[in-house]
Amino acid sequence: MPLPKAELHLHIEGTLEPELAFELAARNGVSLPYPDTDALREAYRFEDLQSFLDLYYELMAVLRTEQDFADLANAYLARAAAQGVRHAEIFFDPQAHLARGVSMGTVVEGLWRALGDSESAHGVSTRLIMCFLRDESAESALATLDAAKPYLDRITGVGLDSAEVGHPPAKFREVYEAAAALGLRRVAHAGEEGPPEYVTEALDVLGVERVDHGLRCVEDPALVERLVRERIPLTLCPLSNVRLRTVDTLADHPLPAMLDAGLLCTVNSDDPAYFGGYAGDNFAAVHEALGLSRDRLRDLARNSFLASFLEDDEERRTR
Ligand code: HPA
Ligand code: ZN
Repeated sequence: MPLPKAELHLHIEGTLEPELAFELAARNGVSLPYPDTDALREAYRFEDLQSFLDLYYELMAVLRTEQDFADLANAYLARAAAQGVRHAEIFFDPQAHLARGVSMGTVVEGLWRALGDSESAHGVSTRLIMCFLRDESAESALATLDAAKPYLDRITGVGLDSAEVGHPPAKFREVYEAAAALGLRRVAHAGEEGPPEYVTEALDVLGVERVDHGLRCVEDPALVERLVRERIPLTLCPLSNVRLRTVDTLADHPLPAMLDAGLLCTVNSDDPAYFGGYAGDNFAAVHEALGLSRDRLRDLARNSFLASFLEDDEERRTR
């Protein structure tokens, strides 16, 4: 029986497995610059975040219709459920789709076809978090929030992702203020490749409740102390960190030291189709490579529910 857990850092576009990519390409008459799934998998050797993002955005070309997004989300939910995920807070990147002529409605309604009955179909409750691409302009983020207004009953919060360095959180102050005024929850990627100052800025300027990755906080002891004191959850993604070379090997991952420091860490898969594993695989990997005990894994699973956007009564029922 896999440990029941919540997944809080998961890009739905990053769950596109090569087999589904080719199936959707055929269905939509899109040609992929790879002859087959093996050749595509061969391309999954990344130097850094940007080299991954290049492929991640390229493959999105196969996602065109509501049904494509529904199939993508259903495939993820089935795999996640099999690994013990009971609740998933799912990121999506509307700007990457709008830029290709795929509307906000197609994306959100398509995802909702799967998310709307995920509890009965997969035993997984869900939330949707709309991410802004930080390497796009602040104006584009504002226009994206505007485009999402008809769908706010389906969207729980906003996030910030894509190429981090050179795109500090403060660039998005205005859109986060507007999102907060609409009652949306706020998270942001910070401290994945960017410096610890970006984590501080995400908290102080964007008012985030949770930091995605946040790994580089370990370089600043005062920041670590603050994150512990304020009980700010970090959504760590160990296999992602290895694949994107944020850490050299899994054995070098600072997760055990972060737990010892009292940080509210969670373990997540980020882009599981690209990084070699879903949520349960990430738990198994840190268990093996870092020698985390069953008790520690249970703490991580408990943290995932505590850090979720579930209401208290829902949280008790889910775990
Ligand atoms: N970091 C930043 N942006 C992303 C990621 C990530 O790991 N995955 C998808 N978009
Ligand atoms: Zn991410």
